[in-house]
Amino acid sequence: MKTLYLISTGPGDLAYLSPRAQSALQHCDDLVGYGLYLDLLGDSIQHCQTHTLALGQETERARLALDLAAQGKVTGLVSSGDIGIYAMATLVFELLDHQAQPEWNDISIEVIPGISALQALASRVGAPLAHDFCTISLSDLLTPWQTIEKRIDAAGRGDFVVSFYNPVSRKRRWQLEKAKQILLQYKAANTPVIIGKNLCRDTENITITTLADLDIEQVDMLTLVMVGNQETRVIPSNNAANIAQQHYVYTPRGYRAKQ
Ligand SMILES: C[S@@+](CC[C@H](N)C(=O)[O-])C[C@H]1O[C@@H](n2cnc3c(N)ncnc32)[C@H](O)[C@@H]1O
Repeated sequence: MKTLYLISTGPGDLAYLSPRAQSALQHCDDLVGYGLYLDLLGDSIQHCQTHTLALGQETERARLALDLAAQGKVTGLVSSGDIGIYAMATLVFELLDHQAQPEWNDISIEVIPGISALQALASRVGAPLAHDFCTISLSDLLTPWQTIEKRIDAAGRGDFVVSFYNPVSRKRRWQLEKAKQILLQYKAANTPVIIGKNLCRDTENITITTLADLDIEQVDMLTLVMVGNQETRVIPSNNAANIAQQHYVYTPRGYRAKQ
């Protein structure tokens, strides 16, 4: 059988790689991915032929993975976090949908889920995602800014907890400030905001602030920005092991009102 695994490797630390992802990696002959993600897998992929393609070559990566699988090589296409969340899985299906090659027909595809950046950040600080939440990517490379702005506005109107992926890039810095201004029309200035940088990596850094004080200069490409809803609370923590902040952040589900 021709096999293509779409493998999620989680936010960084291999402790968060699922057993299913580990066993798929063990089965693979060939792995396709961005160099940094493959490097994070270390010795566990020594037995594989690796194919690293640069950022920006996403379509080429997906096509190569399909071609290798079609040649009978057990192939893994690798993405960090969850491969289905702002990542490579959709490109494979888009190619199958619009540019299908006869030799891709009998490839069996398994999507292996992983821990996305928003789950990693939530777990670091407590339980901010306990009620309705949404994610919005601030990258306008593939999505018109008008669409993004409409979604930020709707998220504010609906009082969702909002996680911003791709908040800035090297060339793109104004969108997060604009998102903050839109949310401030609906959310209080003291709404908790959690900034998670390099999550589950050696240089991890987490800051808790407020929407009014959210400083764009603190944010880089490998940062997730999570904005609470009107119920989200920051409470002191006595747990010194609680990473950087000595605080917990949680969003109540309404149990207290029931008691
Ligand atoms: C193209 S998206 C990929 C998302 C990934 N598939 C996931 O599920 O986490 C890249 C964005 O995800 C966020 N991100 C991914 N990994 C992260 C990490 N370890 N720490 C902080 N943010 C991360 C950042 O906002 C970054 O700009």
